[in-house]
Amino acid sequence: MKHLLKLIDWTPAEIADVLNLADQLKYEKKNGIEHHILKGKTLGMIFQKSSTRTRVSFEVGMSDLGGHALFLSSRDLQIGRGEPVQDTARVLSRYLDGIMIRTFEQKEVEMLAEYGSIPIINGLTDFAHPCQVLADLMTIREHKGMIKGKKLCYIGDGNNMANSLIVGGIKMGMSVAIGCPENYKPDAEIMKWASENGEFVCTPDIFEAARDADVIYTDVWASMGQEGEAEERKRVFKGYQVNSELMKVAKSDAMVLHCLPAHRGEEITEEVLEAHANEIFDEAENRLHAQKAVLVKCMG
Ligand code: CP
Ligand code: NVA
Repeated sequence: MKHLLKLIDWTPAEIADVLNLADQLKYEKKNGIEHHILKGKTLGMIFQKSSTRTRVSFEVGMSDLGGHALFLSSRDLQIGRGEPVQDTARVLSRYLDGIMIRTFEQKEVEMLAEYGSIPIINGLTDFAHPCQVLADLMTIREHKGMIKGKKLCYIGDGNNMANSLIVGGIKMGMSVAIGCPENYKPDAEIMKWASENGEFVCTPDIFEAARDADVIYTDVWASMGQEGEAEERKRVFKGYQVNSELMKVAKSDAMVLHCLPAHRGEEITEEVLEAHANEIFDEAENRLHAQKAVLVKCMG
């Protein structure tokens, strides 16, 4: 059975396969060609955190593929009142054909896969956001023609986005540079893996990280669940902003990506965001196409 728990579990060939299928599904949707590959199938979508893009794109994606999506807020599920994930997994496996889950701990997603008997898709944890990175890689290829050999620079918190971008970028042959404060680095094991498997650097110097980059990426300074640290983080991350000064050291045709939601004036200026809005909103759109490809691979 195929799960998408984190990108490190997928081979470069599997990632490439999904990206190719995503391109095809995008082209076909634009041309009114329908594929009801998941006819009669139901995806449960468990949300323990907020979402605009993930929720809507998965629901529309299932409908495009002829299936059905159920929105399951953890506030309403017994899981929110302490029913163990091991039991939830076994019960939901009897009703559903797949689960997409957005939660805090990566362990919860891994346990759903261990105890359940249906495909599990990670719709974001504190550790990873694999669906976002598949859409990001798709967008990079769309705008740059290829992924391999391009330099991806991520500026900001070493969070779920940084972890997944490192893995996705390195697996697809990009060179990856992270510009982040000393105490906010990405996961240590991921950084070790990246250094052993590709061209990788993590530095507190954002200008060094961004030099000659083809893609500049950023994300919020305080992620969901870190609201209490927001003020402290504003102080720590003050110099870690994607702005026109930083863009000067990247390649002149560098693209800018942001998983969204964006905090203008914090991790990115209004000016840079608006100058690259076509790339950023293509990226958001591509969540739909990339996830449809994931749904087909996992549940088809
Ligand atoms: N980028 C992303 O996952 O957006 P949502 O939080 O709106 O789903
Ligand atoms: N790092 C952010 C990503 C949101 C899509 C968060 O976890 O809130």
